[in-house]
Amino acid sequence: MTYDVLIVGSGAAGLTLALTLPKHLRIAVISKSELTEGSTLYAQGGISAVLDNEDSIESHIEDTLNAGAGLCNEEAVRFVVQNGPAAIRWLDEIGVPFTREENESVPGNFHLTREGGHSHRRVAHAEDASGLAIETTLASATRAHDNIDIFEHHIAIDFITTRKLHDDEDNRCIGAYVLDIKQKKVKTIIARFNVIATGGASKVYLYSSNPDGSSGDGIAMGQRAGCRVANMEFMQFHPTCLFHPHAKSNLITEAVRGEGGLLKLPDGTRFMDGYDERAELAPRDIVARAIDNEMKTLGINSVYLDISHKPKAFILDHFPNVYEMCQTFGYDLAEEPVPVVPAAHYTCGGVMTNLRGETDVGNLYCIGEASFTGLHGANRMASNSLLECIVFGKAVSDDIEKRANEPFSPPTIPEWDESRVTDSDERVVINHNWDEIRRFMWDYVGIVRSTKRLERARNRIQLLRSEIDEYYSNFRITSDLIELRNLSLVADLIIQSAMQRYESRGLHYTLDYPNTDPTQSNSDTILDH
Ligand code: FAD
Ligand code: SIN
Repeated sequence: MTYDVLIVGSGAAGLTLALTLPKHLRIAVISKSELTEGSTLYAQGGISAVLDNEDSIESHIEDTLNAGAGLCNEEAVRFVVQNGPAAIRWLDEIGVPFTREENESVPGNFHLTREGGHSHRRVAHAEDASGLAIETTLASATRAHDNIDIFEHHIAIDFITTRKLHDDEDNRCIGAYVLDIKQKKVKTIIARFNVIATGGASKVYLYSSNPDGSSGDGIAMGQRAGCRVANMEFMQFHPTCLFHPHAKSNLITEAVRGEGGLLKLPDGTRFMDGYDERAELAPRDIVARAIDNEMKTLGINSVYLDISHKPKAFILDHFPNVYEMCQTFGYDLAEEPVPVVPAAHYTCGGVMTNLRGETDVGNLYCIGEASFTGLHGANRMASNSLLECIVFGKAVSDDIEKRANEPFSPPTIPEWDESRVTDSDERVVINHNWDEIRRFMWDYVGIVRSTKRLERARNRIQLLRSEIDEYYSNFRITSDLIELRNLSLVADLIIQSAMQRYESRGLHYTLDYPNTDPTQSNSDTILDH
């Protein structure tokens, strides 16, 4: 199985790349579940870009830099923001059904909503199910391309590199081992260009807005292949996930606050204006921390999000899916405040890349949430993530197009060796370790950290990782085991990074260093291979 390009992951990043690459290239897209499954599918609020003549590129840049709390790479921010309008036009051209509204100052009449950190309405959306609209449009376009082979229910295990094979100084990626989950068979895929587009790692926490697959696979695979990984301490918690014993990963979009929704305590009083002058529309790190503080101080299980002062027709028009989701749990968004809590949502750090999406390993790129491009700094601004996926998907496509004629002779690669492993006789180890990691990450490495808590987490992860590595060496591989191995490595990277930052900044807040240290701006936390 030899391809020009192997793309691991089929969210907004992976499929944008697949669709924009030259048609003469043979492309493999692998996806560990159905093609459309991943965070992209669940995105609600939308995708930010300067689309209103009264808005400006400089303003979008400034807002992103402010939200990023002094750690954004301004060059990366400028690159993404400048390419924003073209990204939306491309999505529009391929058929994404954006919500429209007559507006003289918005060419194309995109309805623009507002979210935290944005000083202007600039979030294009498809009602409150923007991700569904984007992902399904990208997926059907991908299925129509003859040059793209799609491998659903195939999970990448590890990249194959020249350093791993021959201990080469010049470390290049030449493919990947991939488990066909249904056939239970490991395949070897050889490719000239390889791309990580595997999304984030928020499932490392007990409570998360993300789908189950967000286990940080690509970040872990990239690290094992020889890439540097940066800023993993900056895990973003979304302030408003529905609180209900049976609700799992049920986000209530920030656009609800953008359109006037208020955060309240159980007695009906507002509290956000006591934390930040932007109140409910302060950047996410501030809102999530404020909610966490109120919950801990008052000993309450949740706070409340209230938009019931708006007309029901307005709510149904703007948030039909969120309304329906709340109703299934017994809440009427148009009539009453609904209980909400913060949950792990987005991985700001990841595999380090330059503006062409290149990593430290030759012929290995990284795009989307798995990457660290410098755009988000210490805190991602709402709706900048889908934009980054599209802009960097296209950037990698341009780079591969330029390099497509470079010579490539497919190397001989040893097949996956299963001669020394047996079927597991105690799968309980996987479930137990998965649960244990997610619980202590929530308790010790969550919204508020301390040196003592981080030390506790570090001791636990070291023990668990050695147990998991031993299990990995002895037993036949399964997708659960692959994910657990990756999740444990990513948890370790988050803990290590958090322990190296002796200040509070953006999403990283520690009781032992509660202030931001100006001498640490421009200092990313970089973990070498
Ligand atoms: P994903 O869309 O997560 O796709 C990852 C892909 O990789 C999947 O196909 C998965 O199957 C595959 N994969 C992973 N590991 C492997 C492996 N080992 N082998 C094979 N395949 C693998 N951002 C915004 O900008 N605006 C929003 O409104 C917004 N709302 C959000 C709402 C929710 C509920 C969530 C969870 C996130 C939201 N985000 C939003 C964030 C945004 O959706 C994600 O950051 C973005 O979609 C990530 O896209 P991606 O292509 O990098 O990864
Ligand atoms: C949301 O709709 O609140 C999520 C937006 C985002 O994560 O960018």
